[in-house]
Amino acid sequence: MTIESGRIRIFDTTLRDGEQSPGATMNLQEKIRLARQLEILGVDIMEAGFPASSQGDFEAVQAIARAVRGVEVAGLCRAMPADIDRAWDAVKVAENPRIHTFLATSPVHMQYKLRKEPDQVVEMAVAAVRHAARYTSNVEFSAEDASRSNPDFLVRVFEAVINAGATTINVPDTVGYAQPEEFGRLIRYVIENTPNSHKAVFSVHCHNDLGMGVANTLAALKAGARQAEVTISGIGERAGNASLEEIVMALHTRRDFYQLDCGVVTEQLFPTCRLLSMIIGQPIPPNKAIVGANAFAHESGIHQDGMLKNRETYEIMTPESIGKTKTDLVIGKHSGRNAVKNKLEELGYRLEEDQLVTVFEAVKKLADKKKQIYDEDIEALVLEEVYRL
Ligand code: KIV
Ligand code: ZN
Repeated sequence: MTIESGRIRIFDTTLRDGEQSPGATMNLQEKIRLARQLEILGVDIMEAGFPASSQGDFEAVQAIARAVRGVEVAGLCRAMPADIDRAWDAVKVAENPRIHTFLATSPVHMQYKLRKEPDQVVEMAVAAVRHAARYTSNVEFSAEDASRSNPDFLVRVFEAVINAGATTINVPDTVGYAQPEEFGRLIRYVIENTPNSHKAVFSVHCHNDLGMGVANTLAALKAGARQAEVTISGIGERAGNASLEEIVMALHTRRDFYQLDCGVVTEQLFPTCRLLSMIIGQPIPPNKAIVGANAFAHESGIHQDGMLKNRETYEIMTPESIGKTKTDLVIGKHSGRNAVKNKLEELGYRLEEDQLVTVFEAVKKLADKKKQIYDEDIEALVLEEVYRL
């Protein structure tokens, strides 16, 4: 893909890097439910897990690969033949499988973690990509800790792995060390200096240790990267990963600046973040950009006055554009089936008629015991009654 192309690929790694977030472990049914929602959301690639890491992960990746359509499914693996074989065994049932192999390229990782010389690292990377390319032409290579690697060494590795068959080159800021301007420069440098860079899609994967995950990703996209690796609500290892909803809405709201598009259905952002929050049992912080409860709340009198005159005074995007409606429908024991159906749709659930009847009856039962039914209660009933989670 050329640097001019304006279509960004959204690679969601909530099910892999996101699940590495403390307390965010998901069971098989929960992973499948989230994977189906990611499909509805319109991500291009979902990284379903790390098949060699455990039997449970292998089975989850395989089940997700079977469950979704119209989206690429990636399995992560170290740059080792046995890991790559395991990843392929798990993803091969997908409509469009991807092998994602990684190897560290920074001096500190090569010396202390891998105990390898740079030449050996190049050899290992090439051997891994060649091995993966025997299974599929959809091979991604990640240079772990790229932001602390020598840019010319990265160019050397990237040239070699593209020649070996890698079709996506990922440049991770593994420890969230980079700064936006500097990271943008690095991306531009490796794209311009890797001889055969046009044969691969350049990707970035930014962690949030200094709170720069989103800013670094956007700077990289501006510099020519065409795949963003992200997670829902920014969950992930340590301080997390770049958040999908923030990047998508930045591209959408500031299209004048970025001139880039992606295939995400923005109206599914809020329902997806809510679903994840229900599954992992962690509330969305109220001040979270885009999807927090306060993101569209206006408290100050001056702001309220401005909003009443024209919403654009204090809103740069509408709640509807992220799938949040302004309707204040209170569900209780007097509510009818239509009201429950409306509420479910507002929360992002389009149920079959028999599923709707089941949830409606469960809501009625709960309303007899509880004064007020919250959105969270209704979502819990859907997960219990329909998805059996
Ligand atoms: O942060 C990282 O470097 C990763 C790689 C495996 C892509 O998660
Ligand atoms: Zn990561």
